[in-house]
This record gives sequence, structure tokens and C-alpha cells, in this order.
Amino acid sequence: MIPDSFIQDLLARVDIVDLVDGYVPLKKAGANYAACCPFHNEKSPSFTVSPTKQFYHCFGCGAHGTAISFVMEYQGLGFVDAVKDLATRAGMQVPESEGRSFNDEKQGQTRTLIEVMARAAQYYKDQLKRSPKAIEYCKKRGLSGEIAARYGMGYAPEGWQNLQEVFPNYNADELKAAGLVIENEAGRRYDRFRDRLMIPIINPKGDIIAFGGRIIDQGEPKYLNSPETPLFEKGRELFGLPQARQALRETDTAIVTEGYMDVIALAQNGVGNAVATLGTATTATHVTKLLRQVDRVVFCFDGDNAGRKAAWRALENSLEALADNKRLAFIFLPQEHDPDSYIREFGKEQFDRQVTQAMPLSDFLLRELAQRCDLTSSEGKAQLIYEAKPLLLKLPTPLLRLQLVKRLAEASGFVQSEVERLCELKSYTPAAPPKAKRTAPSLTRNLLRIVLHKPKLAAQLPIDLLPDTPERPALIRLHDLVVGASQEASSYAALREQLRGLPEEGIIENAASELLALPFDEEGAEAEFRDTLEKLQEGGQKRAFAELQAKAQQFGVAGLSAAEKQAYIQLLTNRGNRS
Ligand code: UTP
Ligand code: MN
Repeated sequence: MIPDSFIQDLLARVDIVDLVDGYVPLKKAGANYAACCPFHNEKSPSFTVSPTKQFYHCFGCGAHGTAISFVMEYQGLGFVDAVKDLATRAGMQVPESEGRSFNDEKQGQTRTLIEVMARAAQYYKDQLKRSPKAIEYCKKRGLSGEIAARYGMGYAPEGWQNLQEVFPNYNADELKAAGLVIENEAGRRYDRFRDRLMIPIINPKGDIIAFGGRIIDQGEPKYLNSPETPLFEKGRELFGLPQARQALRETDTAIVTEGYMDVIALAQNGVGNAVATLGTATTATHVTKLLRQVDRVVFCFDGDNAGRKAAWRALENSLEALADNKRLAFIFLPQEHDPDSYIREFGKEQFDRQVTQAMPLSDFLLRELAQRCDLTSSEGKAQLIYEAKPLLLKLPTPLLRLQLVKRLAEASGFVQSEVERLCELKSYTPAAPPKAKRTAPSLTRNLLRIVLHKPKLAAQLPIDLLPDTPERPALIRLHDLVVGASQEASSYAALREQLRGLPEEGIIENAASELLALPFDEEGAEAEFRDTLEKLQEGGQKRAFAELQAKAQQFGVAGLSAAEKQAYIQLLTNRGNRS
């Protein structure tokens, strides 16, 4: 745990404009700075950095955050590592929390396992240089020494306890915890990987978290992978992601394959933006990770039946990760090919064409469903809608969903509204945007804007007076944060970091982004705050008065309690004074 006070000091010390400018040249644009967004592909700059509030916001893709989130997103680091990275630049020392907490211990174990994996990887790499047989195998697959080095490939020799050479304490717990050795029932240990080409799986930080080992030539199983360990969770990781980083940025496209060797062969042939799932189906987590870095994900699985099934599962699992500005597409290779064999036979140009012409998700979805149903019969048409329903319900993209509904209506002979009703979708009548938003921002919306502008005002928010609007929980959260803070939050950025993962995060981000677009009267902020509070109070009094008046009319003034009577008289007097 890094103390909040350190995070605040760090954010006060680092200038987000300098930081971002080091990666993406910024141009002054009014009170802010702008650039083309580094997190999505665009031609005109919608990425904005606020020097006064110390945060960035992209009006195109919604990327939003502080210096810390920028480093996390741009370098693919976790929170703690991003803080460490920034601290190093700022010449600050991240405080070690006192005593050994559970977290420290866990971190300690993680560090040990990472060291163990690194040492094993180095050993395997050395062995590859010494094994003519393994080198011959790589050559036969068309791989150069350069590409082997890029992917950190190695060789685990034949024999049962080779790792003893680099781990003198072969019985150490961490060897087993890292999945490098297996213990038999009699308690004897032996190397998990023997006579295999070793392919390390590297996380975005550059740590080796697992291995895939391919048998040289024939044998079972063809691939042996590290088990799940504290470092490695299969359904989350993608092979080749760190190596693909630059190519992902350049092409704004990620290619997802099924195999390690597909990724490596594509890279060998000049296609650097491929990654692979690790012997599991594609998950929504995989897709979400990729869509954070690129706008288009293209699945390229084997041409056989299994590959086609995998493509459909990928479709089902990715739906929930979609957004209307993101695209998913599918390549269907000839029956006998996988990406590796395809690019070796037809070359990069032909493969690139496959990527460009890949089948959009919507076409694949409709084609597949149509194939399952006999659309010449009423039963088949009904079945089409029946099968489409769960998929449509998963789609978080109103625009794409509407497109699909229209095409499903056409194919099934229902009309659009019937399809929507049958699938229990909320129909999208493009309603006029809620008026309050544009014309007169609600009082609480206004308060939220002012408070994000001057965080210390949050302490003065009259919580009990706040009406039940969408902004209310956000205002309460900010109030509590500011009141509870050990030091004054100097800017929105300092608050922002404490909102990570909280339900109010979204609405606050949204309000903060409005600060960039609207001019804000720096001097007048406090006056506006008071003014808004006053209006709020008036509103509250009006409501209270109306309630008391109704009660008094029904039961007579005698029906009011002593306190109510007093309040009623007070309110009556106020009203008199005002008019
Ligand atoms: P494939 O059998 O399609 O392998 O498995 P491939 O990529 O074509 O491999 P080569 O070209 O024969 O060397 C695809 C992926 O499935 C997992 C691995 O992750 C592999 O990359 N797999 C496959 C296993 O985990 N174990 C196996 O025995 C086979
Ligand atoms: Mn293959």
C-alpha cells in the first residue's frame, strides 16, 4: 500500500504537461494543451491536457486520468509500478510501509518467483545456443536468430534434473511454486520441461511469468505450458503483447491467433502486431486489454473446424467488450492453413490483404446464425431471433445493435420493433438529449463542476441539502474525501487518484472533462459556489414549505408539532421578507 499522502505529493511534483509532452508532442490550445490521442488513432487532436487541473482527457475515445494513469496506460504498467516510475523521475523515494503486511509478503513472493523465472529463462537461452538439434528445428521453421532473441526463445535439454545446474537448492519451494519442477508421489522432483523449445510468456512490465514448451518434432503433448501460478493466470494473459507494442500503435490493429508459433512466424515475416491466447478460448478480458491499445481487433484462427469454432467462441466472449468506435473482424484461412503456414506460403502482402478484408463481426454473426436456421420456414425465422437474442443482449453498443436488429428483421420477416420487443431490448428512439444538460446545468451539476475546479470547497457542501440527483453520490464522495484528507488536495488530479474503481468515478470524469471545454471564471468560483448553495437552499425551503403548508391545510395548524410550527412560521416570515 502506498500512502495517499505520497500519491498527492507525487502528483504535485510531476507536471503532467512535461510528462505527456515527452511522449506525445503537445501544442498549446487556449488554456490547455492538445495532441492527437496516443490511445486511439485519429487525424485531428482531441486529446487535451489541463496544466491547472493536472489531468488529461480525450474527447474522442474517453481516455482520462492523471500522470499516474498516463504512465499506466502508455507503458502498460500496473498502479504501483507506474507510481514507482514517476517517483524515480521526480527523484522521490516511494515509502515502504512499516512492518511486513500481507501485501509485502505477497510482493516478496512475487519478486522471488520472477527472479526464478528469469534465471531459468537465461539457462534455457544458453542451452539453445549449444543444441544443434534445437537450432536446426528453428531453422526448419524459418526462424532467424534475431527473432529467437526477440522472443527470448530457449531450449530445455533432455534429462530429468537439469535445472539443478542453475538452482543448487533444487528442493526450494519457489521452484515448485514457479511451476518449473514437478514433484511425484514419492516426493522426488524433476524438471517439468525436458527436450522442448522454450517460449517465455512476458507481461507488459517485462517479467517472465510462464513458459510454453514445444516438443522438438513429434511427441505428446505438443505444447506443455506452465501451470497457473501466482504470476500467471491463463485467461488474462496474451502471448507476444510486449513485443507487439510498437506495431500495435503503428497499425492500430491487433491480430489474435491461437498459437505461439503463429505469432512468432508472423513477426518473422514482418507482421509484428500479432498476439496469441494461451491454449484457452479468447476471453472478454483479452479483448478489453487489446481494445485499450487499438481500435480494431482481427481474429485469425486456424482454417480447420476447431479454428472456426474458436472464432465463434471468440465472438460470443468479445461482445461485452465492444464499443461503437471499436471494430472486431475475423479472418477465415483456407482449411489446411494456420497463420504460420499461411504467411510462409503466401507472404506478408497476401496476409495483410486478409487482415484488411477480414469479415466484420456483424457479418460473421448473421452468417453463422443464418446457417443454423432454415430461413425458408417460419420455424427457422423464429429460431433466428431466438438465437440472436442472447447475443444482442450482451452488446453494449447501441449503434451496432440497431444495425443488427434491422438486418435480423429483414432476414426473419419481423419488423424492427417486433425484433426489439421479442429480444426484450429497449428500443432506441433517438430521443433528444436531456435538456437540462445543455441549457441549464442542474444545481448539483454546477456544484460538481465548481468543486472539481476548487476541491477544497467540497468540505463546505451541505450534504443534507443535496437533492437526489445523479451528482449527489459524487458530491458526497468528494466531500468525504476532502474532509478526511490529511492535507489539502491541491488539484483535481489528487482527488482523481482516490476515486479509482469507485462507482462515482464515471460521473466525476464526465464533469471534469466539461471543465476543459467551458471557460471558467477563476475569480468567481467561490461566489458561484455560494450562489448555487443559496439557490439550493431556496429550493429546499420551497419544498419544506409546501409540505408544511399541505399538512397545515389538512389538519389545521394545531396538527403540526411544536418544531414544525416554528419552522412553518420561520418560512412564512422568510417568504414575506423576500417579496
Ligand atoms: P496448435 O496445435 O494449433 O499449434 O495449438 P500450432 O500453433 O500450430 O503449433 P505448431 O505450428 O504445430 O508448432 C495452438 C496453441 O494451443 C496450445 C498452445 O498454446 C498452442 O500454441 N496447445 C496446443 C497446448 O497448450 N497444448 C498442446 O498440446 C497443443
Ligand atoms: Mn502451426
